[in-house]
Amino acid sequence: MVLLSDADRSEVTLSRLAEDLALLNALGVRLVLIQSTRKAIDAYIQETGQHSAYHGPRRITDESLLDTISDLAGRYRLEFRGLFVRAEHRNRGNTPLISGSFVTAKPLGVHEGVDHKLTGSVRRVDSEAIQDQLNLGAVVYLDHLAHSPAGQLYNLASEEVATEAAMALHADKLILMGETATCIDSDGQAISELALPELSAVVPMQTQEMQRRLYAAERAIRGGVSRAHVLDASSDGAILTELMTTSGTGTLITAQPVATVRQARFDDLAGLLHLLAPLEAVGALVHRSREKLEAEIDHFSVCEQDGRILGSSALYPLDQGVAELAALAVDPDKSHQSIGSRLLQHIEAEAKEQGIHTLFVLTTLASDWFKERGFIQVAVDELPSNRQALYNYQRNSLILKKQI
Ligand SMILES: CC(C)(COP(=O)(O)OP(=O)(O)OC[C@H]1O[C@@H](n2cnc3c(N)ncnc32)[C@H](O)[C@@H]1OP(=O)(O)O)[C@@H](O)C(=O)NCCC(=O)NCCS
Repeated sequence: MVLLSDADRSEVTLSRLAEDLALLNALGVRLVLIQSTRKAIDAYIQETGQHSAYHGPRRITDESLLDTISDLAGRYRLEFRGLFVRAEHRNRGNTPLISGSFVTAKPLGVHEGVDHKLTGSVRRVDSEAIQDQLNLGAVVYLDHLAHSPAGQLYNLASEEVATEAAMALHADKLILMGETATCIDSDGQAISELALPELSAVVPMQTQEMQRRLYAAERAIRGGVSRAHVLDASSDGAILTELMTTSGTGTLITAQPVATVRQARFDDLAGLLHLLAPLEAVGALVHRSREKLEAEIDHFSVCEQDGRILGSSALYPLDQGVAELAALAVDPDKSHQSIGSRLLQHIEAEAKEQGIHTLFVLTTLASDWFKERGFIQVAVDELPSNRQALYNYQRNSLILKKQI
């Protein structure tokens, strides 16, 4: 589910976005798009010197404003369709962009004596009809205007439509594009990942526009959507970077704190021992005493979630440009969640920074795992001589090597 912001309507930005979405769709990502027109409506109201009435955060829509919004929404839809058709054509695809009456509205009504007129709210999302279109391979495009069963058109908040649709569709992700890429902390630094329990402390530091997106993210996650991302609408490739790499440009919001990979510290020792002991017991890893671990802590990285050590890896330089990756371990309760892959990526990045070009790993039980990640098996004599001298023939580990 992607909320398209109108913060940057330049043709370059929009056509790149259409290309990225066409590419994601070609890769099998099922897409439902919802277009916001808020920025353009604000600009129109300012240009024409009109007064835009609000009650709390909601704009009150009268008939003349609804006409303007309908024109805008229709124009945006056609413009985006043109760009999407062009992107599909370039990629030799022919995915249809389908829009229709997938959302039913209801009037917001009178609140605290204020009549919201033609400002509405979501009454129902026809998730089955949307799923049918997605199953046929279409990309679905929603407006933030919808009719009530009585046939009256209402102006809905685009964030609300995105959130309700994401929940009704049990979407994996809600992507909220907008004016800025990331949430910021009290020092003005970008926050890359946020868990719901941290959200309330962070919200007051954000712009009003970001706050709207964060409330939408929170509601969606509480409603069962796994993750929400806030992204900068004008940043080239933001959506691809966020979804296809481990280091996105926006802020990722999840229900629980996300596991982070970082340099190990002394206070990780107990967690590390707890993680490594069972794997040492079955012979997957070489035994390290507490003293040895403490002495070598600077070589270790850990994956931590909410104070719990879920994984580890270590990097030992062996020779000029050559190092050994060791003690790669993941808590069995957390296996198959890409923690091992993230730790490997982290160690490879760290090694590159240190000018390492060749990584060795010695393993008894995980050779296939490393082979699937670009390592090849080599003979003992390929190890640097200082490591060969320490090779334990009884343990008989397989030796794997990767050029990074
Ligand atoms: C190997 C290990 C680090 C993988 O961690 P992980 O977080 O589960 O790995 P990822 O989630 O990134 O990858 C999961 C994939 O690897 C596969 N896999 C896991 N362990 C494997 C093994 N020992 N051999 C081959 N494949 C393995 C899984 O089946 C899964 O594949 P799939 O997605 O096709 O089902 C973890 O199983 C482990 O701690 N092993 C014991 C310690 C060890 O042997 N370390 C290596 C010596 S340094």
